[in-house]
Amino acid sequence: MRIIHISAECYPVAKIGGLADVVGALPKYQNKLGAESAVIMPFYDNKFTKENTFEAIYDANVKLGEQQYPFAVLILKDNTLDFPVYFIHIESLLYKDYVYSEDDTDRFLAFQIAAMDWLLTLDKKPEFIHCHDHHTGLIPFMAQESYKYESLNKIPVVTTIHNAQYQGWMSYEYLNKIPEFNLDHIGLLDWNGTINPLAAAIKCAWRVTTVSPSYMEELMQNANGLEALLSAERQKAIGILNGIDADVWNPETDQFTEKNYKVSSVVSGKKSNKSWLCKEFNLNESKPLFSFIGRLVGEKGAELLPGVFYKALQSKDISILLLGSGMPQTEAELLSLKNVQVGNYNCFIGYDERLSHMIYAGSDFLLMPSRVEPCGLNQMYALRYGTVPVVRRIGGLKDTVVDINDKDGYGICHDEVSETSILEAIDRAKEFYKQETEFKSNRKAIMSIDNSWGVSAKAYINLYNSIT
Ligand code: ADP
Ligand code: GLC
Repeated sequence: MRIIHISAECYPVAKIGGLADVVGALPKYQNKLGAESAVIMPFYDNKFTKENTFEAIYDANVKLGEQQYPFAVLILKDNTLDFPVYFIHIESLLYKDYVYSEDDTDRFLAFQIAAMDWLLTLDKKPEFIHCHDHHTGLIPFMAQESYKYESLNKIPVVTTIHNAQYQGWMSYEYLNKIPEFNLDHIGLLDWNGTINPLAAAIKCAWRVTTVSPSYMEELMQNANGLEALLSAERQKAIGILNGIDADVWNPETDQFTEKNYKVSSVVSGKKSNKSWLCKEFNLNESKPLFSFIGRLVGEKGAELLPGVFYKALQSKDISILLLGSGMPQTEAELLSLKNVQVGNYNCFIGYDERLSHMIYAGSDFLLMPSRVEPCGLNQMYALRYGTVPVVRRIGGLKDTVVDINDKDGYGICHDEVSETSILEAIDRAKEFYKQETEFKSNRKAIMSIDNSWGVSAKAYINLYNSIT
């Protein structure tokens, strides 16, 4: 079974968030099941592309309206990745030191057309095309409708929605940049007088998946305008829970942590990592350490964090550490709190892969008060590292964390995205921490939960097989 994933991100090549983690792991796990899975992604100007050597396997021009751009398909000279990755190199559009920016419409449209142009030339074509998010949302449409790609239109296309908030809207001016199609079918692109790539993908893909079953149910009710469309297409829609790459996120072998540990050495292992973190960030290691890692945006409930932290720190019985970046106002508030709560609180505003691993390893609790969480990977990483997730019951968080008060529970859940609700959850976590024996045995239990991609990679294979 030949599968080609098409995505803007893929770990470790280029990562902004969980999309990269998924596309960096799912193909590997599919290949373990006997598939031949590969990835097509843009060639960015970043650390990974600077540190590796590439060779061109295809050269052509990609046409975007009246403009032609030279492009090449590159592969790694020595592939150190777990599966083949094909890089679309369009120097003037994609080769930038960022992944996303203001001029994404041209960039990702050219990316999609170039990827399809190249697929046309292959003798051994993929048997399934798997697109991720709105950056690849026009591929299902082009595969079905563009005359140029007629020979690809029997290949089933699956679209996975990682986040329906972003849909990639573009104006009608872009119509003449999409390879020619029957204009009577313009309704497939139209969304109130604009082109909506995510909506087009929902209409044209053979199957639509989201990254957790609960998120799919939520989207049927509210999907930033796409709920009625998704409900109408429900016969081809399914929620498949993301997994984690259990090789990358493994406390026993993690290269980024100070001390490796396994279930039997979790107490001493976490203690060493916590010590390192507390020294580095001037925190008191005898108190339970609550952390947050993520994008500082409304979807993650981030604007509530400064107020929550300020109140939670009044009792001086916990430490808090945050790693993230996003809304300038929230960043500023989080930074200024450092002066008020010296020794109890610290934050690192920015992106740091190594520090994220240290925080999963060294913390006692991980906070995720998300408003929207299609799946969420952080809570699953936390579990693997014996860190108790404190999450709002929503989307994938609801599907992966069971409250300690429920049968077989192991995490702390709350229902509202409000200061009060988050503070109550923190209080419950503190109480749990005091029950030393239960807390320790819970740590061991959560480390043993198998959230790896094994099960879900199989679910995707079954999904492809169900397409006739
Ligand atoms: P989302 O994709 O919505 O941001 P996920 O939970 O799916 O959320 O995935 C987030 C991923 O990005 C995780 O691998 C997390 O560790 C990582 N991450 C988020 N913010 C940072 C940061 N500031 N530094 C390092 N890693 C981060
Ligand atoms: C999106 C979602 C996140 C999910 C990730 C990977 O970024 O916000 O919840 O885990 O995609 O699917």
